[in-house]
Amino acid sequence: MKKIKIERILNKKGKSPIVCLTSYTKPIAEIVDKYCDIILVGDSLGTVLHGMKTTKEVSIDTMILHAKSVVRGSKNSLIVVDMPFKTYTNKYVAYKNAKRIINLTKCDAVKLEGGKSVVNIVKHLTKKKIPVMGHIGLLPQSSKNFKYRGKSLNERKKLLRDAILLSNSGVFAIVIECVVKDLAEKITRIVSVPTIGIGASKYCDGQVLVIDDIIGLSGFYPKFVKRYANVAKIIEMSVKKYCIDVRKRKFPGPKNTYNN
Ligand code: KIV
Repeated sequence: MKKIKIERILNKKGKSPIVCLTSYTKPIAEIVDKYCDIILVGDSLGTVLHGMKTTKEVSIDTMILHAKSVVRGSKNSLIVVDMPFKTYTNKYVAYKNAKRIINLTKCDAVKLEGGKSVVNIVKHLTKKKIPVMGHIGLLPQSSKNFKYRGKSLNERKKLLRDAILLSNSGVFAIVIECVVKDLAEKITRIVSVPTIGIGASKYCDGQVLVIDDIIGLSGFYPKFVKRYANVAKIIEMSVKKYCIDVRKRKFPGPKNTYNN
């Protein structure tokens, strides 16, 4: 397979579903890279991997460390890295930080959260040739409540406006998080760039989920997650068996021992 370029993602709109999963480390990226179009190094790594209370605690250095690991483990997928909280407070700060992330990690694009409030930042980054993915709906970096969006008319109007503004400001795709089905469908129909849903129905142009959620390693299973495996159980069984073996002096056995 050849390395996926942004043009290929754009061309998939309305034709074939775009598949995206998060990865935070090389071993996981090596697996995800074989099947997905996009790998997102999401700042969800703060809560999922590091046990932080919110993604607001994630630093740019932490994102860079994980993104480097993911890039080492992937050769096909497009790699998008989240810009963490407070790293895009204005267009100059955003450019400096986005450039740093791309230069140090060799990822393909950055993602930032917000609608109207980030439009000038997105325009500045894309003018400077930095590929940007947008993110609307539930925004973990700034949201106070984690309920789905698009219930009130006001909220619906705002989300549609945000999607159009982002699309016109140069993003190559928009993540739509936790948004009601009919609004996600409308946004997808109206904007010219692909929409990638997470809890935003099958009507989006693509889907993204957190890898740890689908393999049963995060302990976090909201309605929009489908669990495909229970890896936590497999790890627990392995740890349990190892501990028994050591305590009973069954490990290391002859096969694990060097003889002279
Ligand atoms: O941080 C993340 O993993 C994300 C996805 C959930 C879209 O932004």
